Amino acid sequence: MSGKIFLKSPGEVAKMQIAGGVAAEILMEIGAAIKPGITTKDVDVITREIFRNKKVGNAFYQYRGYPGQLCISVNDEVVHGIGCSRVINSGDIVSLDVGTIVDGWYGDNAMTIPVGDVDPETLKLLAATEESLFRAIDLVRPGAMLADVCAAVEAYVKPFGFGVVRDFVGHGIGRHLHEEPQIPNYRPSYKLPRLKKGMALAIEPMINAGKAQVKVLADGWTAVTADGKPSAHFEHTVIVTDDEPLIVTKRPRVALPEQLGIAPL
Ligand code: MF3
Ligand code: CO
Repeated sequence: MSGKIFLKSPGEVAKMQIAGGVAAEILMEIGAAIKPGITTKDVDVITREIFRNKKVGNAFYQYRGYPGQLCISVNDEVVHGIGCSRVINSGDIVSLDVGTIVDGWYGDNAMTIPVGDVDPETLKLLAATEESLFRAIDLVRPGAMLADVCAAVEAYVKPFGFGVVRDFVGHGIGRHLHEEPQIPNYRPSYKLPRLKKGMALAIEPMINAGKAQVKVLADGWTAVTADGKPSAHFEHTVIVTDDEPLIVTKRPRVALPEQLGIAPL
């Protein structure tokens, strides 16, 4: 990170809409391929083929040596899971995280999907995490405090008793996957700026059913919950405009909070 927040011009925003739009398409195609019996390595191979067919650059593959085509994190895995021989079963939740590079511009998005019959408490975690992302996005306006956007995630999930992961954060995005500023999912102790038109933000709540603590496995990447309880992750790339936040990775929502007795936005 360089310490500087790069504002995107309208022409650059148009390019980010393309990178983000493709990232969303790819995420949905991968989601549609997830069925009980498939391995996470199968999903990695499918992802490689999708990127190849679309002739799009993969933002994650070999990023700081990351070996996967996507991050695929099952149940208690929080983020950065690597495709392997693990079989996905009914009752699992699977977090999928995909990043694109189009014409030098980056798009980044993630979602957690239920596979087959998932227990109601875990579905609630999923729905609440996705809703918390939209509560945060809704505050993305010029002049708003970024710290308030961050605080909105924690404020929404706290009443459920869920744990907000603190070891990983969202980020600015543009010509690089990770730019300034950092975007934690809680009000940070350090100062965050006011939002300005042209800022591009990857907002990504990572929420645990139990405690917030995570640990990284011996592979150096896979983060899991310390207490073994499930974790959910949703992410959108969002740009500050004159009025409404522009979600460049827009796609249909995974979870319907109303059906789970959670108040929608
Ligand atoms: N969406 C995550 C992030 O923004 C995943 C990137 S990790 C990588 O940090 F190593 F796979 F690139
Ligand atoms: Co990200």
